[in-house]
Amino acid sequence: MTGASDTQRAHDIVLWGATGFTGALVAEYLVKRGLDGVRLALAGRNLAKLEKVRAELSQYDPKAAELPLLVGDSHDRASLDAIARQAKVVCTTVGPYAKYGSELVAACAEHGTHYCDLTGETQFIHRMIRAHEAQARETGARLVNCCGFDSIPSDLGTYMLYKAFADRGGQVHRVRMFCGETKGAASGGTIASMLNLVDEVKRDRSVLKVLGHPYSLYPEGERAGVDGSDQRGIGRDDDLGMWTAPFIMAAINAKVVRRSNALLDFAYGRDFRYDECASTGKGLSGLTRAAVTAGGMAAFLPAIAFGPTRRLLEKRLPSPGEGPDRATRESGFFVVRLIADGVDSGGNPLQLRGRVEGINDPGYGETAKMLGESALCLAFDELDSPGGLRTPASAMGEPLIERLRAAGMTFRVDER
Ligand SMILES: NC(=O)c1ccc[n+]([C@@H]2O[C@H](COP(=O)([O-])OP(=O)(O)OC[C@H]3O[C@@H](n4cnc5c(N)ncnc54)[C@H](OP(=O)(O)O)[C@@H]3O)[C@@H](O)[C@H]2O)c1
Repeated sequence: MTGASDTQRAHDIVLWGATGFTGALVAEYLVKRGLDGVRLALAGRNLAKLEKVRAELSQYDPKAAELPLLVGDSHDRASLDAIARQAKVVCTTVGPYAKYGSELVAACAEHGTHYCDLTGETQFIHRMIRAHEAQARETGARLVNCCGFDSIPSDLGTYMLYKAFADRGGQVHRVRMFCGETKGAASGGTIASMLNLVDEVKRDRSVLKVLGHPYSLYPEGERAGVDGSDQRGIGRDDDLGMWTAPFIMAAINAKVVRRSNALLDFAYGRDFRYDECASTGKGLSGLTRAAVTAGGMAAFLPAIAFGPTRRLLEKRLPSPGEGPDRATRESGFFVVRLIADGVDSGGNPLQLRGRVEGINDPGYGETAKMLGESALCLAFDELDSPGGLRTPASAMGEPLIERLRAAGMTFRVDER
């Protein structure tokens, strides 16, 4: 049944998109982490570019000069079948995924190959669930989306808190996630994914329904839960003692957390509630930051949808292949706070707090780590999850949290 555990496969991990901005960072992360016992191959559409990436990697480990190179194209299914058949795990950074990702998911589902990606594109995941869930369940392929800053801190942070309640004999009922202090920048590929989303909405208005429905990534046929839409304006959270604003990634993260709950047989409860926002601090400065963030978010989407402002933005924003430099990445960081409410073993109210922190910029340094560790987890850890379109928490849960802690990230629960 599951081909992915087949030891005959030539590569433990094939990194698809190793020539891109994020792909090269994931390659660097995996090589610096150590190639002993890891049969890694680099893949992309351009052999000369792959050779250049491999030559650069050999400065970190001479063994990298021997890494196998595989060539294919996102739109050439036969080349993707050949890659999927040779790999235990395909780890992909080729995006926008809605544009370049579908055939690879199809190939991995068919060949029982585990898969992880960095998509934050709800409409893409929605389509992949509809198209490949049944086959991936049959072949045992764990196809795991959102293994970067969206949505690992939200998804594994919530899973960590659910476990903390369960370990105390209690039950979680609600989690609030607050994205706090962050330092980083966006890459061209991420901008391209956002622009592509706007284009898809213009072509097909039904995409808006998928984006706007809080439970659009629920398993087919499952009745929706109790959450409403994401925060739109300024707010204040009294438990946290801070002002809050809309968080752009809540749109994908909250749906992923809800899907995790469903795929974990509603371990968080059928009436589990989840929401997330940006926390902007205390006092007048916190309120001002909340107002600026809320205003910026309200203006950004119309600006990239409207032709003239979009063309202006495109000239100023990074192009595909570009992104924040090493100094920006290494001086970056992020802090995510979570507040979970539920009951203890005696049915009394219990509140636990969680903290997830990264020690590089969220979008690239820590994302390369999160995706790299996800690929290693899928390739080497004993996981009891079935195949299918999975979320990080429902596919990898505790083993991935342990890996990320070992790699320097914080996942911590505090009792109040
Ligand atoms: N979730 C997160 O936290 C997070 C963080 C960072 C990035 N991302 C996502 O990751 C994706 C990549 O971002 P990026 O900045 O690294 O983009 P990028 O630098 O533009 O890289 C894109 C990669 O796709 C490859 N590619 C394009 N068309 C292809 C085709 N037809 N066949 C095969 N390969 C093809 C490119 O190959 P060439 O080098 O040959 O052009 C390149 O390797 C984006 O979707 C972005 O949104 C997500």
